[in-house]
Amino acid sequence: MPPPPRRNFHRSHISATQASGKPPHGKPPAAPREQGWDPVAAWYDKLVGDGGSDYHRQVILPATMRLLAPRPGEAIIDVCCGQGVLLRPLLDAGVAKITGIDASAQLIRAAKARHGAERGVTLVTADACAPGAWADGGHDAATCVMAVHDVSDAVALFSNMARALKPQGRAVVVLMHPCFRIPRQSHWGWDAEQKIQYRRLDGYGSPRAIAITTHPGKASGEQTTFHHRPLGELLSAMGKGGLAVTGCEELYSHRRSQAGGPFSKAEHHAAQEFPLFLALTARRL
Ligand SMILES: C[S@@+](CC[C@H](N)C(=O)[O-])C[C@H]1O[C@@H](n2cnc3c(N)ncnc32)[C@H](O)[C@@H]1O
Repeated sequence: MPPPPRRNFHRSHISATQASGKPPHGKPPAAPREQGWDPVAAWYDKLVGDGGSDYHRQVILPATMRLLAPRPGEAIIDVCCGQGVLLRPLLDAGVAKITGIDASAQLIRAAKARHGAERGVTLVTADACAPGAWADGGHDAATCVMAVHDVSDAVALFSNMARALKPQGRAVVVLMHPCFRIPRQSHWGWDAEQKIQYRRLDGYGSPRAIAITTHPGKASGEQTTFHHRPLGELLSAMGKGGLAVTGCEELYSHRRSQAGGPFSKAEHHAAQEFPLFLALTARRL
């Protein structure tokens, strides 16, 4: 059984009053609503569009659907669904009941504009780290695609995903590879002597919150926070949340440099050696 509901204590439970150190008077102020990617929603919706980003289309969505293996008539929940990029493949697979939840009201609005009128689709603005009516034990499978690192409390996320599933229900979690894709900590390098493109890691073992600017060239520079967790912490969070890992696939880039270029052989080799994404399958304990 997954543990009892757990809230995200990192952000939402620290009110301005508490942070100032003054004793609270009367009723404590309501915790601010988790807004997910609302500040960057317009940018993200444009980037992903109807069919997904290049990586979504070529790597992430095909792997998610293969690992999920949805059956017609099933009920599936996509946790942190964003603007609904997974919904079309799920609908095309004949999934009867699809629930998408995301903390960003704007991205849920974009998902509703695309798929809200489709039969069996329910889209809800909700914090995946907080208990909610959607975590109702009624789903055959749950997905969380490219979002674990955007959530500050992974145990709470996985607990609620587990709670949304029927006993033994399936889960598929796809995320940025925690060993090789850590913003500001992992980089490509070129060893001219050995003609090797290598991956350099400046840090891995410490969990950290990393601010990401989504429009690097723009003065406004909206930010999101990337939560890096070492692999052990990630897998333990799934177990603590009530999800037993049953499989692991590492997903590589489909992109290849132009043949004959000065670095093409080395780039090709590096693309085959260093995975971009990690895909985990699990079952509700
Ligand atoms: C990189 S986007 C991925 C969205 C979608 N799964 C996709 O592949 O396009 C990360 C998503 O996580 C959502 N998110 C972040 N924290 C959340 C939370 N606590 N509860 C629900 N959604 C959250 C964001 O609003 C955003 O839509």
